[in-house]
Amino acid sequence: MGGRRIRELVNLLHVAVLLAAPMAGAERVIIDTDCGYFGDDGSTLVMLLRTEAVQVEAITIVSGNVWADNALRYTKEITRLAGHGEIPIYLGAEQPLRHTLPMAEQEKRRWGPMEFRGAFDEPRPAVTEPLRRVAAVSEIIRRVERDPGQITIAGLGPLTNVALALEERPDIAGKIRRLVFMGGQLRVKGNSTREAEFNFWFDPEAASAVLRSAIGEKVMFGLDICNRAMLDKKGFDEIVKVETPVTERFREDFGVRYPGFLKNAKAEVSLWDALVAAWMIQPRLFTRPEELYLDVETDFGPMYGKVKLAGADAEPGATRVSMMNNLNYAGVYALFRDLLREKR
Ligand code: RIB
Ligand code: CA
Repeated sequence: MGGRRIRELVNLLHVAVLLAAPMAGAERVIIDTDCGYFGDDGSTLVMLLRTEAVQVEAITIVSGNVWADNALRYTKEITRLAGHGEIPIYLGAEQPLRHTLPMAEQEKRRWGPMEFRGAFDEPRPAVTEPLRRVAAVSEIIRRVERDPGQITIAGLGPLTNVALALEERPDIAGKIRRLVFMGGQLRVKGNSTREAEFNFWFDPEAASAVLRSAIGEKVMFGLDICNRAMLDKKGFDEIVKVETPVTERFREDFGVRYPGFLKNAKAEVSLWDALVAAWMIQPRLFTRPEELYLDVETDFGPMYGKVKLAGADAEPGATRVSMMNNLNYAGVYALFRDLLREKR
C-alpha cells in the first residue's frame, strides 16, 4: 500500500477519533427520562441536546409520566425534531421496584385525593411485572464502567433505572461522576399526594436507594425550588412566536394539553426537569444549596414517597444530597426560551 494511501487512512482515523470524542470540556451525560408528549422532559432533552456545555451520550427510558414504551416513542420523536436522531436510546424499567396500580388505587381510596398519578392513570402497558434486567440498566453500567468518574446522569423521572443499576453493581456508585435530578421536596407540599412529589412517589424504593447511595455528588431540584420557576402565558408566547418544529410541539403540549395556555391565559406550570438542564449549563444561576443526608419513606401509607432527613442514622457510606433552594428565574427562563426556540 503506497505512502499516499496510508496518509489517507491515517487522516480518516483521525477524523473518526475527533467525531467520537466528546466536545472538549463538555459534561458527558446520560439522560434518564419518563418523557411524555413533550412537557418539561421534552424541553430538557432539547436544552441538553443543543447546549455546548453538555455532550449527551445516551438516553435511557423509565416509566413515570407515561409507561416506558410510550416514553420511548415520544423521546425518539423529540430527539429527531431537535436534529439529534443519532443519540442512542435504551428502554428501561416499565414498572417501579414495588409500587403497583392496586397499591395506587388503595392510596387514592384511603388517603386521597391525589393530584397526579402519571402512568398509573394510563392504559396498562404490555409489561406488568418488575423486570430486573433491562437494556437501559445494562447500558448505564457499561458506560460508567468504561469511563469511571466521567459520566453524569441527569435524572428526569422516577429513579428506577438508577436504583436497578446500583442494585446490580453497587460498586458503580463510586464511578458515576454525579447525579443531577429533579425529584422530592422538603418544606412544601407534594404534587402527587400531599406528602410526596411525583418522581419519588411513583417509585419510593428507588428514590430511597439512590438518596442513600454512595454516588459522589447528588444535586437535587425538588419542588421547593421548582415552585419558584413558574412558566406563565407571557413566557409561553415568547417561545411560540418563533415557529420551528420544536416550538410547534411545545405549543401543542403546553398550549392545548397541559397546562393549556391557549385555553386559559392565567395558567402556569413549573419548569421542573428543565432546572436540571439550566444548572448543568449555567450553575451560577443557582445559589444556597443545602447539604443534607436524605432518605424517602417506603412504608406503605399516607407518607409513602415522602422525603425525610436521614440524620445520624444515615446509611453507612451514604453521601449527602446538595438540595438547591434559590435561583435567578429570569436567567433560567432566558436559557429555556433561547434553546427551545433556536432555529436549527
Ligand atoms: O414532579 C415533577 C416531575 O414529575 C417532573 O419530572 C415531571 O416530568 C413529572 O415526571
Ligand atoms: Ca420527568
